Amino acid sequence: MESITTQSDIDAAAWKALEDSIIYYCGHPVGTVAARDPDVEALNYNQCFVRDFVSSALIFLMNGQTEIVRNFLVETLALQSETKQMDYFNAGQGLMPASFKVATSYGEQYLTADFGEHAIARVTPVDSSLWWIILLRAYVKATGDIALAHQPEFQKGLILILKLCLADRFDMFPTILVPDGAFMIDRRMGVYGHPLEIQALFYAALRSARELLAPSRQGEIYTLIVNQRLSTLNYHIRKYYWLDIKRVNEIYRYRGEEFGEAAVNKFNIYPESIPYWLTEWMPEKGGYLAGNLGPAQMDFRFFAVGNLMAIICSLSSPQESQGIMDLIEQRWDDLVGNMPMKICFPAVEGLEWKILTGCDPKNVPWSYHNGGNWPVLLWMLVAAAQKTGRKEIGRRAIEIAEKRLCHDQWPEYYDGKNGRLIGKEARKYQTWTVAGYLVGKALMDNPSHLSLFSFDEDLESLEWSYHQMA
Ligand code: GLC
Repeated sequence: MESITTQSDIDAAAWKALEDSIIYYCGHPVGTVAARDPDVEALNYNQCFVRDFVSSALIFLMNGQTEIVRNFLVETLALQSETKQMDYFNAGQGLMPASFKVATSYGEQYLTADFGEHAIARVTPVDSSLWWIILLRAYVKATGDIALAHQPEFQKGLILILKLCLADRFDMFPTILVPDGAFMIDRRMGVYGHPLEIQALFYAALRSARELLAPSRQGEIYTLIVNQRLSTLNYHIRKYYWLDIKRVNEIYRYRGEEFGEAAVNKFNIYPESIPYWLTEWMPEKGGYLAGNLGPAQMDFRFFAVGNLMAIICSLSSPQESQGIMDLIEQRWDDLVGNMPMKICFPAVEGLEWKILTGCDPKNVPWSYHNGGNWPVLLWMLVAAAQKTGRKEIGRRAIEIAEKRLCHDQWPEYYDGKNGRLIGKEARKYQTWTVAGYLVGKALMDNPSHLSLFSFDEDLESLEWSYHQMA
């Protein structure tokens, strides 16, 4: 490798790696591959993953390269309406693929998608549809091209996703009920039920959708439904997911078996389920949103994407957002360490690891999804830092990443309690690592880019709930 020493060398190397990852379809750029590691079998890393492409798309939009993002949105929309049935796996209408690739038949190119029916463990990409809406809004914000979103096919695609997410099911919570491995953590990790990451993306997607619905009778009806859901979801997450030392104390003294309306311990959380590490780890100042909540189940682990996206889309209150940044600052070594930042904390170990992961050797403690450090999370950390006026946190995080990422050839993830080791099975030249670094730097230099994907406190749905109660 040529010697890369200065910051501008690192940035140039990142741009080169990003350009090299672009996928062309019929001569046009449509996405980026997940990774280009020359030494490891590609598996599906040569495909364009919807969630991975978001990081690439954001830096392309910030850099004025809007065509690739438009093409991506158009092509994935076309894939959404494909008949998705194979081997008796049947995806709901409206689902967006986890990934796609260009294939050739008789010299003609076509796109082929994976909705989870090929993915390891056949996991459903619930987050893809949500990211797709968030990205469509970012594209419209960057280009002013609302006409694209208002096209009938785009409105149809948007409404199909809304229908899928807003459908009445057996569940009664305003959060969405999803299977295990439905997002970035796409393996069995005990993240089924109502995981925070999906709820934060759902919230951001609903807020995006409200801006994108074309004015029509149908648009009006969906705006009403979306407002109602935004307000109940916001209330539910802020009231029941928030954890700080005061809340932990309340839960510690909870009574169980309460029936009826006046129940304080609504989800019947037993104090004995509070893990010992939490009582020591929770700082005096600050807190975070719990990983998951269901009947007699509270996942006390800290999950980075859910918490950072909650800040970015104002799902957490302004005070809670400051509290999450306080926690990150005070538990820096655990959550950031040698590479920003940990996907979740702490790792599950021993029997718990066996039961929750099904003995997954890739998700051993402090590796990969089970407490590994993922450089792609840098952009979300910097964005959350900018949003909360805590610039210093973003600057420190970038400095840490800059020291290693390029030299280590842009690994997918790092291992170890403090993220010092390159992940055991991490790919090199992982595109969202590269793009995440560039987005983080761009956000640091120009905080106004934040408006592409962030939201202020939602006054519209608050007004809606005020009218309901009046
Ligand atoms: C792994 C990750 C997933 C990512 C994919 C491609 O499966 O768990 O989140 O989208 O790799 O990078």
